[in-house]
Amino acid sequence: MLNLTAEYQAWSDELPALFRHVFTTSEGEAEGLAVSSLSSDLLNSTPKDDLVVVLALDDRLLCGCILFSRLHYDQDPRQVFLMSPVAVRTDRQKTGIGQKLISFGLGHLRKQGVDFVVTYGDPAYYGKSGFQPITETDAQPPMTLSMPHGWLGQSLRKSNMPIKGPSRCASAFNKPELW
Ligand SMILES: CC(C)(COP(=O)(O)OP(=O)(O)OC[C@H]1O[C@@H](n2cnc3c(N)ncnc32)[C@H](O)[C@@H]1OP(=O)(O)O)[C@@H](O)C(=O)NCCC(=O)NCCS
Repeated sequence: MLNLTAEYQAWSDELPALFRHVFTTSEGEAEGLAVSSLSSDLLNSTPKDDLVVVLALDDRLLCGCILFSRLHYDQDPRQVFLMSPVAVRTDRQKTGIGQKLISFGLGHLRKQGVDFVVTYGDPAYYGKSGFQPITETDAQPPMTLSMPHGWLGQSLRKSNMPIKGPSRCASAFNKPELW
């Protein structure tokens, strides 16, 4: 049976290998390495309060993982998190795990008082989980986006847009090539 959890400490060491395998299979070796390295940077260098990790486990098998990291908007009181990266084990894809994991992660963030979640990816897929295209005026990305149509967001509570001012990401995301 699938178990969704935000208790990830016991699994930390296995997460970069999951990202590496999943992204190597879907996008090639270079992307596999890049996302795996991003995930270990996020896990090792992000302050505890700025990182949320959710896992999908089937018994003792790690089936999926999402990393959420804080985006700081110093001129706005709202709490904003970035959802990235997202991976579902290759042989378990398209069985609903991704949707369940996203929905669990958003519920967990809502309980923690998070106001708004952004992501940067495929609008067709993330639209199924309530993400809508947003503009760089609605919420400024921390760096220049190479694919602005992939900038997506959703409110977890009543919220007026825009979110004010520039944003700062976790140091692991401080690389222009990731945007
Ligand atoms: C993208 C990913 C996270 C989706 O997880 P998943 O468990 O395979 O997806 P689900 O089974 O929850 O998909 C649910 C729905 O989304 C659709 N879907 C899945 N991947 C999709 C994609 N890349 N684009 C559009 N729709 C997609 C499914 O067909 C399904 O549609 P339906 O509900 O209408 O039948 C997973 O396939 C994955 O890890 N891919 C490789 C890594 C990646 O691309 N990560 C995302 C970028 S960070």
